[in-house]
Amino acid sequence: MNIEKLNLSYPKLPKRSKEEILVLANNLLKKMTLDEKIGQLFQSAPPSADIQGLEWERDYDVIKLIEKGMVGSILSVSDPQYVYELQKKAVENSRLGIPLFFGVDIIHGCRTIFPINLAMACSFNPELIEESCKVIANESSKLGITMTYSPMVDLVRDPRWGRVMESNGEDPYLNNLLAKSYVRGFQQNNLEGYDTIAACGKHFAAYGAGEGGKEYNSVDMSERHLRQYYLPGYKGCVEENVAAFMTAFNIYDGIPSTANKFLLKDILREEWKYDGFVISDYTSTFEMIDHKYAKDPKDVAKKSILAGMDHEMVSMSYLEHLKKLVENKEVEEKLIDESVLRILTFKYKMGLFDNPYKNIDPNWEKYMLTPENRTMAKKAALESVVLLKNNKVLPIEINKNIALIGPLGDSKEVLGAWAGNGINEESVTLYEGLLNKNLNVEYAKGCNINDFDKSKFEEAINLAKRSDIILLAMGESQEMSGEAASRAFLNIPGVQQDLVMELKKLNKPIILITFSGRPLELTWYHDNVDGIIQGWFLGTETGNCLADILVGDYNPSGKLAMSFPYSVGQVPIYYNNYNTGRPSLTGKPGDTYRSGYIDIPNYPLYPFGYGLSYTTFRYGEIQVNKSKFIGNESIEIKISIENTGEYTGEETVQLYIGCEYFSVVRPLKELKRIKKIKLDSNEKTIITFTLTKKDLAYYNKDMELKAESSIYNIYIGGNSQEVKKIMIEYKEK
Ligand code: BGC
Repeated sequence: MNIEKLNLSYPKLPKRSKEEILVLANNLLKKMTLDEKIGQLFQSAPPSADIQGLEWERDYDVIKLIEKGMVGSILSVSDPQYVYELQKKAVENSRLGIPLFFGVDIIHGCRTIFPINLAMACSFNPELIEESCKVIANESSKLGITMTYSPMVDLVRDPRWGRVMESNGEDPYLNNLLAKSYVRGFQQNNLEGYDTIAACGKHFAAYGAGEGGKEYNSVDMSERHLRQYYLPGYKGCVEENVAAFMTAFNIYDGIPSTANKFLLKDILREEWKYDGFVISDYTSTFEMIDHKYAKDPKDVAKKSILAGMDHEMVSMSYLEHLKKLVENKEVEEKLIDESVLRILTFKYKMGLFDNPYKNIDPNWEKYMLTPENRTMAKKAALESVVLLKNNKVLPIEINKNIALIGPLGDSKEVLGAWAGNGINEESVTLYEGLLNKNLNVEYAKGCNINDFDKSKFEEAINLAKRSDIILLAMGESQEMSGEAASRAFLNIPGVQQDLVMELKKLNKPIILITFSGRPLELTWYHDNVDGIIQGWFLGTETGNCLADILVGDYNPSGKLAMSFPYSVGQVPIYYNNYNTGRPSLTGKPGDTYRSGYIDIPNYPLYPFGYGLSYTTFRYGEIQVNKSKFIGNESIEIKISIENTGEYTGEETVQLYIGCEYFSVVRPLKELKRIKKIKLDSNEKTIITFTLTKKDLAYYNKDMELKAESSIYNIYIGGNSQEVKKIMIEYKEK
C-alpha cells in the first residue's frame, strides 16, 4: 500500500507519567514469551543491507523475523514508505503487534545539511546548536525515523582520528554544554510529539581516546582522567534525559565497553540513575571475540547481558543464545525482563503504541530543504567558520578580480561525512556562492585533492596572473574524515601545496579557505599566505556562507573547539595539559633539559578557543568582588570588553581557571564559562561571571568531585592563550 493513498492521522498523543508507562509495559511483558522478549532486544540491519566480510553475518529473512515478533528495531531505514511497510508487518502480523522503532545516523543534518559537528562546536553557541537540531529533527520526523544516533560526545584530542569531525572538540565543559543542546534540540522534551526524534548519546565510553588516533583502537586511562575529561559529555546527555546510549567499539581498562559493567552498570545506572536503554554499536558485541575477550557468540551474549547491554545492533548473539542461557540458568530471565522493559518504555514514551505510524508523513517532501531550513543551516555555517589569519586582506574589496583556485572551489562534495539523507548536488559550491554575490570571479581547479597530477597548474597560474586576489579552496575530501578515516599525516594532501608555491611567486595577495573534517597542519600556509579561513565542511549552504564571510556581510566569530597543531608530531595536543616538573620556559625548541622537542615548539599553531574577527576587542583588567571566598559563598568576576575596530563583531569571552596546588595535579587551565557577545564598533560592555565552589571542583585524591582550599587563578580572554589573570583564594571552611 502506497503511503500517499493512506489517510494517516496525527492525533495529539498522550504524555504519560513514568509510573503509567511502567504499568503498561509490565502488563505487556507478562503476555510475552521468552522468544518475544529476546526479539525486543534485537536491532536488525535493513533487509536490503549489503554488509560483507564480517564474520557475524547471517542469512535471514527480516520480514519473517518481524512477523514472529523477533525484531525490536531496524537500523538505517529512512524511506517513509519502507518504514510503513516494515511497521505494518510488525503491528499487524506479529502476535502481540509491538511496534518497531527505527534508528538512523542523523548526525549533522537530515536532508538540509548543517556544518559538521566539530565546526558547529566552533560557534561556541549552545542555542544555535539547539535550534539547528530542531530543524534536523523536524525533517527526520517526517521520514519514519524514531531515533537518531547522535550526539557523538566523545571527547577528542587527536586530529588523526577521522571521527573528530563528529565531535564537540577537546574541552569537557564545552562538550557537556553542547551535548545538552543536541539532546534538547532533537527531543524537545516531547518525545511523543510529531516534530521530534529521540537522541542517543554515543559512544559510551571514551571512544575518542583510541591510541594513536587509529579507528576502533584500544583505550586505557585512569579512572580520574575518564571522569574528569571523558564523562562530562555523556553526563550532559543524561542531564537532558537522552533516550538511549550507544556503547563504544573500544576497550576500557581491559574490558570492551559493550560488556563493561563498570561503565554500563556502576556509572550509568548506579551513579547517574540513568533509566533509558543501552544499544551496542554495530556488531560491537560480536567483536568481543576478536578482542579476545569472549570465547564464542554464546559467551558474547552472556557477558553483554550481565554487564547491562540492552539492545544488540545487527549481530545476533542475543537472538541465538539468550534463550539457552536462561534455560541453563546461566542468565536470569529477570535480567532480560529489565532490558525488555526499557525498550517497551521507550516505545510507549515515543507514542509508538498509540500511533505506530506517527513519524511517517506522505507529504514528507515538502518538509525537506525548505527556505527556512536552509536559512538556519546558513546561520549555523556562518558561526562555524574560524578566521585563522588575516594580514589585512579580508574582507575582500568587491570590485577586485578574484582568481578562485583549488579542487574544492566548485565542488558540491562539501556536506562532510555522515551527511544523512543529504544530496551533494543540492549544496551550493563556493564558486556559486561568489557568483550569487555578483563578484568578479573566475575559477580554475588547478589540481585534484589527492593525486600527483600537475597538468592543470598552468591554467590556474594564468588565471592568477590576470587577477588581483588569489583565493584558494583547498583541503581534504569529505571522505578523508568520518568513520574509519584516520590519517597519519595532517597535511593538505596531493600537490595542492606545490600549486600554492607556484602561485606565491606571483606576489599577489593569497587567501586560503581550508576544507577539512579535522584540524590540519597549516604551519607552512600560516607562513606563506595572507589570510586563512577554516571552512570545514559547512553543508548545504557552504558557498553562500563563505561568500558572506569573504565580503564582510558576516564578520567571522568562530573559535576553535580543537587545537590546531604546529606539527603532527605534537599530537595529541590540547590546551588543558598538566605542567611538568620541568616545563619549557619559552615553549620553543631546544630548551635544554626541559619538556619539549628539539625540532618543533611546544605550542600549537592555533590554540583552543582561538579565532579572529574583522574587528578587534580590548579586554580590561579582571575585577573581583572579593579576593577570598569561603564554603558555599560565590564570587563575582567582572571584565570590560571593548570593540576597538571598525566592524560590528561577535566575541566569545572565555573564562578559565587554574589551581596552584591540590591533592592531585590539575591542568594549567580549565574552561569554566563562555559568553558570546556582540558589540558595535567602539562599543564597550562589562561582563559578570559568578563562580561557586562547584566551578573549582576536580576529582581529588579520593575520587570525589570537590573544591579544595587553594589559590586559584582566574583567566579571561578571547582564546585559551591570550588571557588576563587574577588570583583568588578559596577556603573550604
Ligand atoms: C558507528 C556508529 C553508528 C553505527 C550505525 C557504527 O559503525 O560507530 O556511530 O551509529 O555504525 O550506523
